[in-house]
Amino acid sequence: MTLLELSVLGGPWAKRLDKRRRMWTTFPWHDLGAQASPIAKNAARVVWTRSAFSEIASAAAFAEIAAQLLAASAPIDLVAASGEFVVDEVLHAELSAHVANAFGGAVALDVDMTRLVRPPVSERPLMRAAELIVRTSCVGEALTVPVLKAAQKASRSSLIGAVTGQIVKDESAHAQIGAWFLDWADSQLSDADRVHLGNVAGRALVAFAPMLRGECTQSSDLGILDCASFDPLFARAVRKRVAAPLALRGIEIPQTDLQAIGLDVSRSNPPVELTA
Ligand SMILES: [Fe+2]
Ligand SMILES: [Fe+2]
Repeated sequence: MTLLELSVLGGPWAKRLDKRRRMWTTFPWHDLGAQASPIAKNAARVVWTRSAFSEIASAAAFAEIAAQLLAASAPIDLVAASGEFVVDEVLHAELSAHVANAFGGAVALDVDMTRLVRPPVSERPLMRAAELIVRTSCVGEALTVPVLKAAQKASRSSLIGAVTGQIVKDESAHAQIGAWFLDWADSQLSDADRVHLGNVAGRALVAFAPMLRGECTQSSDLGILDCASFDPLFARAVRKRVAAPLALRGIEIPQTDLQAIGLDVSRSNPPVELTA
């Protein structure tokens, strides 16, 4: 384990990111939410430090996805998008760290940088890519988008509003790549592959649910949702943005996994939402 630290080398390497970083200078860095309590500000330091780490983990996931897509001879535009998403995610990590600093500084976070991505268990490159994409895009990113949008709406700090707005723009594309990949791979997936991917999605949901819910608080503030708003939002997002689009592609999430995250599986599915 090691303490989370982000660094930049500068020179031509930092210059490559200049264009996107320049926009950050227009953000209202001093509007932290005048009414926010010291407790809320402290919670924001923790949440945005954790967020920096989960963005780094997302960068690692898309780097792995790009490598597996190459091994699977996937369309090059899909590979290129995954590569670009690595850049998006490292920039989100940097932006999250700046927000934590604005609220008084990042907190110390013990992380294991050697285990950012759980390796897929399949042997075929296509299925290795599919496992990673289902977990990262079809579940993780698909759930992140509505949570971020709601947090942006609820936030009383215009800095948080600007930052979450910026991040969610990228995350929407990250959530969409899953369906595009599955549609491309459709003819190469067997029934057993689809059952396996349903299990992968179910396990990812069970892993993500406490992680996302763990950040909710008693009242919505500074981009952190209150738990009473979070629960129904999360249930709706799982049904509409995760389970339904996967089911449309023959991938069913085990009922036991849906029950494990507190979803009433007796309810019928809502209309399918294909885009984030
Ligand atoms: Fe991100
Ligand atoms: Fe993302």
